[in-house]
Amino acid sequence: MMGSRTATPLAKRDLPALAALLAMEGLPNQDIAEAGRRFWRVDAPDGLLGYGGLEIYGPDGLLRSVVLPPERRRKGEGCTVVDAISKEAVALGLERLWLLTIGAAGFFERIGFTRAERGDAPPAIRASAQFAGLCPGSAVCLRRDLASTTAGMDGRRKL
Ligand SMILES: CC(C)(COP(=O)(O)OP(=O)(O)OC[C@H]1O[C@@H](n2cnc3c(N)ncnc32)[C@H](O)[C@@H]1OP(=O)(O)O)[C@@H](O)C(=O)NCCC(=O)NCCS
Repeated sequence: MMGSRTATPLAKRDLPALAALLAMEGLPNQDIAEAGRRFWRVDAPDGLLGYGGLEIYGPDGLLRSVVLPPERRRKGEGCTVVDAISKEAVALGLERLWLLTIGAAGFFERIGFTRAERGDAPPAIRASAQFAGLCPGSAVCLRRDLASTTAGMDGRRKL
């Protein structure tokens, strides 16, 4: 179970810290203060585990800005962060998540996302800034069906 992990909507004053971490990884960050984006920080008792965000397009969500501080990586916490954001997505009524990634396709596949064609995404997702231009054409598109994965989310790892 999530246990002592908490997901908290990101306050406006915390956006620069997220932007800095995204910029360090070469990930899109110039649009994070724009309307239609929601971000969360996921914390453990000893502090920040990482961030993640959603853009909502009807029943489909664009998962974005998943990033952990370097010292938190490769300890299973990326999975924790994505599961926490996925739970928020379910609570918001989303049925599917989509994402584009250049360097982390393997990570997302390990935690239940499957590869898709960009053209498989619904028009609103394809029209998002990430799909329309912020992410290069070489980025890998992945999706996750939330209805079929919710039950297994917390069970995958002991959190
Ligand atoms: C990508 C990221 C979120 C993964 O988090 P993490 O805590 O390091 O990953 P986890 O420890 O939960 O890894 C889960 C599995 O994915 C694998 N994995 C982790 N990062 C990976 C990557 N970039 N590519 C391929 N596989 C990866 C791990 O080896 C692990 O496999 P295992 O279960 O066999 O050990 C984190 O490394 C990060 O913040 N990277 C920089 C930002 C980034 O690239 N974000 C993605 C934006 S789309």
